[in-house]
Amino acid sequence: MRWLKTLAIVLIVALVALGGRWLLLSGHGEGGVGTVSTTGTAAIGGPFTLQTAGGRTVTEADFAGRYMLIYFGYTYCPDVCPTALGEMGRALDMLPPEQAGRIQPLFITVDPDRDSPDDVAEYAGHFHARMMGLSGTPEQIAAVSRAYRVYAAKVEEDPADPMTYLMDHSAISYLMGPDGAFVTHLSHSLDAAGMAKVLAERVN
Ligand code: NI
Repeated sequence: MRWLKTLAIVLIVALVALGGRWLLLSGHGEGGVGTVSTTGTAAIGGPFTLQTAGGRTVTEADFAGRYMLIYFGYTYCPDVCPTALGEMGRALDMLPPEQAGRIQPLFITVDPDRDSPDDVAEYAGHFHARMMGLSGTPEQIAAVSRAYRVYAAKVEEDPADPMTYLMDHSAISYLMGPDGAFVTHLSHSLDAAGMAKVLAERVN
């Protein structure tokens, strides 16, 4: 069924590219992040150990000195994740290349049971050439989700097929500074231009 998933991803990317901001609200929210402050010392972030294509280990230290723009989601997501990642990819391309180059876009899965490191790496690449996809063991994903206060839970599970379910999850992006500290979050309601505006102001 690998071809079917690839076809689905291609179709979703095509629809998103056509500007379809459809089904923006189903099964997603910004819940679980509590009272995120964009000005203070919100304790969001911290060390992580994850894996990308080929099972290569990636930690926060790999991005020291650069901004990280992090989105948590999953590759089977039918709506919000591909829309948000499409907007993120376009936002990066709206920035001056020097400024965009200081930002590492990261897609971290909340669904390690289905999303392998190779899956997320391939998926992220559909949205921006420099976007890195990260998965890990369930323990690694649980740890990074806790650090970033990301809410995620399986819903609508099919009792006949344990691999068929949706994930309810926080739909929010984080901008982390060159020192790894939280800079701000970007609401999923922002389109590419809105995201680019925030990034242009915050990335120096
Ligand atoms: Ni999603």
